[in-house]
Amino acid sequence: MSFSNTGEMASPTSVYNNRTEELKAFDDTKAGVKGLVDAGIVSIPKIFVLPPEELAEEPNSCQKNIEAPIIDLNNIEEGSRRKEIVDDVRIASEKWGFFLVINHGIPLSVLDEMIDGVRMFNEQDVEVKKEVYSRDTRKKVRFNTNYDLYKSRAADWRDTLTISLLAVDLDPELLPVVCRKSTLEYVKHIRKLGDTLFELLSEALGLQADYLGSMECAKEGTLVCHYYPACPQPKLTLGVSRHADPGFLTLLIQNEISGLQVLHEDQWFDVHPIQGGLVVNIGDLLQIVSNERFKSVEHRVIANHVGPRISAPCFFAGPLSMPEKTYSPIQELTSEANPPRYKEIPLREYVARFYSSSLDDEKSPLDYYKP
Ligand code: OGA
Ligand code: NI
Repeated sequence: MSFSNTGEMASPTSVYNNRTEELKAFDDTKAGVKGLVDAGIVSIPKIFVLPPEELAEEPNSCQKNIEAPIIDLNNIEEGSRRKEIVDDVRIASEKWGFFLVINHGIPLSVLDEMIDGVRMFNEQDVEVKKEVYSRDTRKKVRFNTNYDLYKSRAADWRDTLTISLLAVDLDPELLPVVCRKSTLEYVKHIRKLGDTLFELLSEALGLQADYLGSMECAKEGTLVCHYYPACPQPKLTLGVSRHADPGFLTLLIQNEISGLQVLHEDQWFDVHPIQGGLVVNIGDLLQIVSNERFKSVEHRVIANHVGPRISAPCFFAGPLSMPEKTYSPIQELTSEANPPRYKEIPLREYVARFYSSSLDDEKSPLDYYKP
């Protein structure tokens, strides 16, 4: 315990209170990280600075000689080609929990317009964005900085527009005007690609092609649009803290600025954008139902001197509108020798657990369901 030079005791509580006030003051601006950058700051506010033990970690310790798996979906309906693709998907999902897909059928113009829409939303008059600024998770469309702002150890350097667009009852009129058309078009395609990937993943698990689809893995989900402004001190913070995605599967597009890294064999590995390529992540729920045949991949986004980096992950997380839905390891994938590694998981409780924790928590929601 130490005393400050004013003679007051510096307790952890006073430090904590201070931080909470700073977080609140920042949150109340409703202008996000971009608001700080537009105001011309040259050093980042304390609330974004990582704790010393995390700063000590070398941010770019990537192994250069391994290639991230890239899977070409061309001619996917041809029998022998499909078998090769299913094998590629199996290997990537078992070894990395992550891969890139190319020739997936979504036109480049749809991807470019989606990214442009996110840019235009973030770069429009701040007063318009403020109208959507909210932390109320019941709102199907909401803009904020860090859903876990008040819970994490350090805030991440990004602003986010969250859209529960795959929800059955979303009214398109709720979408911001500047990105409404581009988002609706993108979602139409991403749902279709999601269905295709769930078929490939089912086959890769040795199941009928419609198995995961009939478990309603792809029925609902959330489209999250991230905007990472250029950061004046990128070594002091992160764009997204280390985490694994909680849902079944994530499909992500990104603009030309790098930053995403995946953890593979204990090394951070850069996922550089490739034109027209989409990133696919296995999430915790797929790890659970596959009884750990497939691994959910840990990843993060580093901050950058240049920007903005823009990305839009679409999280397929199961039918949240069905209150009683539960998931557990698929029976066909368990046996006496390979018993279920997770208990039955009520989907709503699991998702509530995710929202009440932070990305940088030591414990992930999944840890609560080990037998
Ligand atoms: C996420 C995430 C990565 C990115 O939102 O869960 O990992 O590239 N995003 O934005
Ligand atoms: Ni993620």
